[in-house]
Amino acid sequence: MTYTLPDLPYDYTALEPHVSKQTLEFHHDKHHAAYVKKYNAAVEGTPMADKPIEEAIKATAGNPDQKGIFNNGAQAWNHTFYWQCMKPNGGGMPTGAIADKIKSDLGGYDKFVEAFKQAGGTQFGSGWAWLVLENGTLKVVKTLNADNPITSNQTPLLTMDVWEHAYYLDYQNQRPSYIDTFINKLINWDFVNQNLAKA
Ligand SMILES: [Fe+2]
Repeated sequence: MTYTLPDLPYDYTALEPHVSKQTLEFHHDKHHAAYVKKYNAAVEGTPMADKPIEEAIKATAGNPDQKGIFNNGAQAWNHTFYWQCMKPNGGGMPTGAIADKIKSDLGGYDKFVEAFKQAGGTQFGSGWAWLVLENGTLKVVKTLNADNPITSNQTPLLTMDVWEHAYYLDYQNQRPSYIDTFINKLINWDFVNQNLAKA
């Protein structure tokens, strides 16, 4: 099952000034495109070629002989998900069902912000911060490199890329500034609510 690089769900300039056109061009057209291309090449001729990408990710997680499929597949999936987690004029307080659930499961929006900042800020090297659902309860987690919570029976609701390529052109080494901006100006809570409704 060939995995296709999706178009961005908005124009390349749509997230400016927070995420520049140049960052999105490199991040989507170069980095994401490369993961998709390498994933398709890695699964070609293997039993994984006929499986949905989520199945291939779960089946190859932790297998040192299948790192090519896992790393590129998970990065392909993570980026497709990440683009949808942002929108122009996003961020700030959530609304709808996710707002209530953040209150009941995490102790409120401020606690979510604290945990999400902590997850993104303390992921040493490259990785991702996530808001996930685990056994019906919200959790904030972080993953290293390509790792994805679906391999831990968690349902991703929101993610933030904290690989340097996500922010370096706009924020240089100031990862905390990128994280603050992501939380306050970019999160697409409508998408998070859709994911919660489907979970
Ligand atoms: Fe990335």
